[in-house]
Amino acid sequence: VTSDREPFSHLTGLTCSATGRSYDCDRPQNLSEAGATLLAEYDLDRVSATVTREVVAARAPTLWRYHELLPVRDPLCVRDLGEGFTPLVPVPTLGARLGLTNLLVKDESGLPTGSFKARGAAVGAARAAELGVTELAMPTNGNAGAAWATYAARHGMRATIVMPVDAPRVTRVETHLAGADLVLIDGLISDAGRAVGEYVARTGAFDASTLKEPYRVEGKKTMGLEIVEQLGWQVPDVIVYPTGGGVGVIGIHKALRELQALGWIDADRMPRLVCVQAAGCDPIVRAFEAGQDVVAQTDTSTVAFGLNVPAPLLGGPLVLDAIRQTGGTALTVEDEELLSAMALCSSLEGLLCCPEGAATIAAVQKLREGGHLSETDVVVALNTGAGNKYPDVVDLDPAVIARDGLVP
Ligand SMILES: Cc1ncc(COP(=O)(O)O)c(C=O)c1O
Repeated sequence: VTSDREPFSHLTGLTCSATGRSYDCDRPQNLSEAGATLLAEYDLDRVSATVTREVVAARAPTLWRYHELLPVRDPLCVRDLGEGFTPLVPVPTLGARLGLTNLLVKDESGLPTGSFKARGAAVGAARAAELGVTELAMPTNGNAGAAWATYAARHGMRATIVMPVDAPRVTRVETHLAGADLVLIDGLISDAGRAVGEYVARTGAFDASTLKEPYRVEGKKTMGLEIVEQLGWQVPDVIVYPTGGGVGVIGIHKALRELQALGWIDADRMPRLVCVQAAGCDPIVRAFEAGQDVVAQTDTSTVAFGLNVPAPLLGGPLVLDAIRQTGGTALTVEDEELLSAMALCSSLEGLLCCPEGAATIAAVQKLREGGHLSETDVVVALNTGAGNKYPDVVDLDPAVIARDGLVP
């Protein structure tokens, strides 16, 4: 039972992920003095005492149904576009092909701007607006920029979005039409990040870079909350996630720990979190295999553009913790493998994944073949965006397509 007098958010503070030191959550914040990400804390005892799973389940199907566990204090600061509560789609035909009886895809393709980045942007932009931010800037591989430009427009904030010149074209169009200042960089997202650093130092715009602002991860956390709710408040055995900067994995891990603290899921059972990267950009997989910290790479490349993050130095330690603490693993897939998986999933299930999402399907296949998954494991693969956003990753074979206008 909830009371109208209960706060909309039970946010209590921010904690440095490296030192545990507390920070004021009611003013705009970036990194801690230790140079680490700040993570949001909530009064989970109070949430547990005042809200039930049934109350949550009866609310509107958007990510804001978990508002006690989100940072926005004033419901009037939520300007939603219907984000969240994406389907958890059983894919039995694909599962049978891969030797799994319980394969599901959490399909993020229907979100505003066509990717899961809408979650982080919806929550991050709403909280920034609530704290009085009027102008923000960020580097992106495309999807996050499109999402943040969109929600910045929704909140009447100015946005400066810096992305590599070869980011998916549609994300440039989305960013531009949302009225943001779009800057194209001849380089990688790390170069875009440096440009944003200089820009915010010069102008005082709020730095909304991945994991430099604390609330994007809260939006992404809702993927974990939804997966568990959609499975009847049970955790799956494995969650497979395409990892670039790492926010998604970090968010899902945080969601699971908060659900355990609330007593809404079994305190002894965590799904194994699996991080998938492209063979052409795999700093986290290398660190995991070597048992070391993440080291920056150079000259990385993959068609799964969102995974082309050569230096995920802020998220790296937190992703590695999530994998290790849950008994998960990290692996790479080649571009050819993820493109084959994209075709397989679409032809067997009618589900057109983005290349990053298809990487999780290719990874599931490898994990099953390698004996890391058993036939009856409940496996959730994340399709983080719409395949339609990437019309250029597949070459249509003229020998198959063009028949001189004659229908065979
Ligand atoms: C479609 C898609 N999937 C996955 C990722 C990786 O996201 P994360 O930062 O959560 O690791 C991105 C990042 O740009 C993306 O656009």
